[in-house]
Amino acid sequence: MSQAKQSRPSAVILGAQWGDEGKGKIVDVLSEKFDIVARYAGGHNAGHTVIIHGRKFVLQLIPCGVLRPGCRGVIGNGVVLDPMAFLAEVKKLRDAGLPVEGGANGQLVVSNRAQVILPYHRMIELAAETAPGRQTIGTTRRGIGPAYEDKIHRNGLRVIDLLNPSILRTHINNACHEKNTIAHALFGTEPLDPKQMYEDYARAAEQIAPFVADTAVLLNDAITAGQNVLFEGAQGALLDIDHGTYPFVTSSSSTAGGAVTGTGVGPTRIGTVIGVTKAYVTRVGEGPFPTEIDDHAGELLRARGQEYGAVTGRPRRCGWLDLPLLRYSNMINSTEWLVVTKMDVMDECAEIPVCTGYKIDGKVTDVIPADVRGFKSIQPVYTTLPGWKSSTEGITEYDKLPKKAQAYLEFIENESGAKIGMISTGPDRVQTMLQPGFAEMLG
Ligand code: GDP
Ligand code: IMO
Ligand code: MG
Repeated sequence: MSQAKQSRPSAVILGAQWGDEGKGKIVDVLSEKFDIVARYAGGHNAGHTVIIHGRKFVLQLIPCGVLRPGCRGVIGNGVVLDPMAFLAEVKKLRDAGLPVEGGANGQLVVSNRAQVILPYHRMIELAAETAPGRQTIGTTRRGIGPAYEDKIHRNGLRVIDLLNPSILRTHINNACHEKNTIAHALFGTEPLDPKQMYEDYARAAEQIAPFVADTAVLLNDAITAGQNVLFEGAQGALLDIDHGTYPFVTSSSSTAGGAVTGTGVGPTRIGTVIGVTKAYVTRVGEGPFPTEIDDHAGELLRARGQEYGAVTGRPRRCGWLDLPLLRYSNMINSTEWLVVTKMDVMDECAEIPVCTGYKIDGKVTDVIPADVRGFKSIQPVYTTLPGWKSSTEGITEYDKLPKKAQAYLEFIENESGAKIGMISTGPDRVQTMLQPGFAEMLG
């Protein structure tokens, strides 16, 4: 396969923190500049909110690019696909008037190599999360972890197998026998019925079939033909299975490397990496959070930022911007550009503390502890910047931002080592500004 020179670069876009940074909104804005948006990891644990002229969409499995006419969405092999969640999402988008079709020239394509989530994955996860004595992760309970477990164990069902009734029947029978036995023995769970499961999933498979293709070939051919791809990350860098705050992480490679393994497009064909960071930090579920705020200021951020899970509705924990974490995230992803979202949420803060280093055993360091227990001994070192105390909501020109808001952004840029390419001042597509170098880079 020849590798023609690309006119416009492909890019990975990912969450630089613990998820919910506003990736959905930013992917939607940038999809104008890309031919294809490809999801590379995670599943319907994600909730990506897009607001287009007041109309709200929350996408979970389907890449945000499908909302843009002319842009194709690809669900890559690194994703774990729940067939029922996928079909429900397709239906929701169609009901909203969007032409979400499969087929050779359709807007949406699913990898034949993506792994399938089945009901026993949810059963096992629910039982494990609630079992006495087990470490609770605070998962989304969508069966994500157990589905990736089966993948790595070489025991999973891939989309290509879902489409083959005889393989599907055998797989469901064997898996149900095994999982029912384990879940009952360990957690006392009631068994699932393989016959009913086969009937439901064989029916779902027929509806999914038109969307399925070899997406590694599709993406590489598209790039060779001069098209560009935006690789859409889910979750965030610190939720990555290798690089995150293990074990309080998700079960996939949400960092930039995941874009390569999760789609079958090699690193030399990807031009740049864009990290999305909030102007502060949030986290959902359990796990360390050095800059978490447990007073009124945290409640203010939660209220102003509407920090509740896009899908689960769980309140998000809120904290001040953590630069050691952002620098680490930029390092492991080779992040070149940053997008700073939710600037408007800080409009009422009189002062804004920013964590510039970690003090561990009296020494200031930038090193993130590998051992999650090590986070307990971190004392964040803060620099307090003045708040701007005026509205930035909806501002679309950098020069119109209050000078103190500009100073806040310049501080982040200088300290994080990545260039700020884009700033978001509200949830709607239009409440955005692109910085000159970034817009030129995207072409
Ligand atoms: P994702 O998972 O990274 O796509 O983020 P979520 O959609 O889960 O959460 C981000 C939330 O912030 C959504 O409700 C967005 O509509 C909202 N949002 C995104 N950018 C901005 C912004 O600049 N300002 C405000 N106020 N809200 C934003
Ligand atoms: P988006 O793409 C925030 C968190 C869960 C839990 C941990 C493991 O919307 O940013 P899982 O169900 O994946 O096994 O849960 O990861 N988590 C997220 N947090 N945003 C997400 O996605 C998340 N996806 C998973 O809360 O702590
Ligand atoms: Mg989200």
